[in-house]
Amino acid sequence: MKNFVDKIQMSRITSICAMKTTTKMYLSVILSTLCIVFFQYQLSKASFVTLQRSDSIGGSTSTNNIITSEKNGNELKEPSPMLPPLYIITPTYRRPEQLAEITRLGYTLKHVPNLLWLVIEDAATPSALVTRQLKRIGVPFEHLVAPMPDKFKKRVVKPRGVSNRNRGLTWIRKNATDGVFYFADDDNTYDLEIFDQMRHTKKVSMWPVGLVTKYGLSSPIVRNGSISGFYDGWIGGRKYPVDMAGFAVNVKFFLSRPKAIMPYHAGYEEDKFLRSLSPLNITEIELLASNCTEILTWHTQTKKNPVASPIDMHKYNGTNLVRLRKLIV
Ligand code: UGA
Ligand code: MN
Repeated sequence: MKNFVDKIQMSRITSICAMKTTTKMYLSVILSTLCIVFFQYQLSKASFVTLQRSDSIGGSTSTNNIITSEKNGNELKEPSPMLPPLYIITPTYRRPEQLAEITRLGYTLKHVPNLLWLVIEDAATPSALVTRQLKRIGVPFEHLVAPMPDKFKKRVVKPRGVSNRNRGLTWIRKNATDGVFYFADDDNTYDLEIFDQMRHTKKVSMWPVGLVTKYGLSSPIVRNGSISGFYDGWIGGRKYPVDMAGFAVNVKFFLSRPKAIMPYHAGYEEDKFLRSLSPLNITEIELLASNCTEILTWHTQTKKNPVASPIDMHKYNGTNLVRLRKLIV
């Protein structure tokens, strides 16, 4: 009996062994296929991580800036390590709309890779509320101050944002070596596409700006692919009648022009700054936004809100209004 059982077991073992030989073949094929698939998956994952990698270039926040991995829905962008850094110089000042403007602009800039946001307040000391908001937004930033000199504050038409922008330029001269900078007022509107384009500026690039003067537009006039003049509701004898939101400058080019500066001359800031970049031939100006046929930035102006009425602290003591009053201007 035992012999019979042994025989059965033996035959089972033999068939298992026989099966195993065939299975082994299949298994090894499946295993090697799996290995190849797994290896390829790891490879594709690695390149995706590269695309997603932060390219923070410093600033006061450690928050990583995530590159947009999709364009037009599903097309992957160029990997960020090759992108030249972009310096965004934003003048800002205390007023009821300030935090709202910073928030809106900040979350736009959060979509832009390899960017450093130079936020410069027209104030003697930095506002704690602005600092807090910049940290919350998480775009790499430098928070600086540059008060408008008193003599200009008394003027009816003030040179707005000039001290701030010049502070930004000083920062660039001291800290930047390459890339591109752009003056982005806190209240304007920016299509993300323009950041992609301006980043590759060789000297100075220009493009149309919407919502400027009664013409609703300020733009270089392009004939046969080159600038033949400027379309702007106010020319005012300017060589470059353009809006602050309509041009970007290469850092190396700027560094090669040690005298370049923005003058305190209301209405002529753009023109005189661009002139200070001389020598610059008008034919060297790079035309963006599909040869200036698209509007990708707008000179939006926020409705001015009245200063908030004071909150009666006697009546509302012990309520949330005590804290809220510190957030309003
Ligand atoms: C227009 C231009 O777009 C500005 O670039 C230019 O500086 C200004 O005219 C001018 O020629 O004076 P506009 O919309 O009229 O701009 O001016 P604002 O938006 O009020 O100010 C421009 C920038 O400077 C803003 O980022 C604003 O926050 C800042 N600013 C304004 C200050 O830092 N201090 C001020 O007292 C006023
Ligand atoms: Mn404005």
